Amino acid sequence: MHETTREWHLAKRPQGEPDADCFELIETEVPEPSPGEILVRVTYLSVDPYMRGRMNEGESYAEPWAIGDVLKGGVVGEVVESHSEAYSEGDIVTGEGRWGEYSVLDADEVAPVDPSVADQPAYLGALGMPGRTAYFGLLEVGEPKPGDTVVVSGAAGAVGSVVGQIAKLNGCYVVGFAGSDEKTEWLTDDLGYDAAINYKSTDDHSAALAEVAPDGVDVYFDNVGGPITDAVFPQLNLDARVAVCGQIAHYNAENVPTGPRKLPQLIAPRAKVQGLLITDFVTRFGEASEQLQEWVASDKLTHRETIVDGLQQAPDAFLGLFSGDNIGKQVVQVSEPSE
Ligand SMILES: NC(=O)c1ccc[n+]([C@@H]2O[C@H](COP(=O)([O-])OP(=O)(O)OC[C@H]3O[C@@H](n4cnc5c(N)ncnc54)[C@H](OP(=O)(O)O)[C@@H]3O)[C@@H](O)[C@H]2O)c1
Repeated sequence: MHETTREWHLAKRPQGEPDADCFELIETEVPEPSPGEILVRVTYLSVDPYMRGRMNEGESYAEPWAIGDVLKGGVVGEVVESHSEAYSEGDIVTGEGRWGEYSVLDADEVAPVDPSVADQPAYLGALGMPGRTAYFGLLEVGEPKPGDTVVVSGAAGAVGSVVGQIAKLNGCYVVGFAGSDEKTEWLTDDLGYDAAINYKSTDDHSAALAEVAPDGVDVYFDNVGGPITDAVFPQLNLDARVAVCGQIAHYNAENVPTGPRKLPQLIAPRAKVQGLLITDFVTRFGEASEQLQEWVASDKLTHRETIVDGLQQAPDAFLGLFSGDNIGKQVVQVSEPSE
């Protein structure tokens, strides 16, 4: 076994958009698991937009990292040493680990990975936290009904790509916003979206939306905020629901632009706008994981991952989320799975 492990630490806080200087690759000793813990060799790790908030000093919806802290996120890995009766050497698990080659995890806080359902990277995307966010965010906050028009921003990303498919399974008409023709074609051709708008090549987002959703919007699942959200709000129908999942268009902003206020647009439709946080549903994760796995196994849910090779690529993969480099879930391959 390796005596040392490489892992990424926070070197400095970003001003606006982060750059490579914010990250430092450190070599350190492989940690020893305590009773109840397991040591995993990380095969895949997840980079996620919310991590941008953790790089700031102030509060975001996740706790800030201190300068010098190891960066953490979802990982999949193989157990190489177990001090728990629940897992044995060779088992594949997923949990919250370090951006590194090895991670010690609390056996009570990991879930097994079933390779017969999907390959390991899917457990960081459609079968992991983003899939569960889509599931609870749409069904519990969006409350879709058959025949509703559901609009999804960030539609070709990890969360958005699952939201649209669950909306279709619930009999909705689904429109997505995404940042390239390759993405919009994937949404309509492979995921069953009824229409998709490339917001980067469309100047008038409002007109484009009105054309494909002439009956207005009943559910808006917002992953991005910014001008796309500005275009959707005036087209909300009576009793519309807005699930505010993420606002990535603002994560690197040093000052939030104000401009004309949008709240009057919610009055006539009596729209309900609700923030959602996946951690609120922690006691029901099993229900979501079971349903998502069943949909994947029965080909009702398509998943896709964009995988970059090598731990050294992790910061670039993370920064690529802000330029839309990923289709589906962005994952970093850290080592080869044994099977
Ligand atoms: N509330 C929660 O509990 C929770 C949980 C998970 C995720 N989230 C949030 O949900 C959102 C999606 O997360 P994810 O993991 O699925 O990420 P993702 O969608 O896989 O990746 C981010 C995507 O955002 C788009 N984007 C980046 N900058 C943008 C901009 N200025 N305007 C419009 N689109 C932009 C890019 O796609 P394009 O090519 O389309 O621009 C990019 O691929 C994020 O805001 C995240 O913070 C919230």
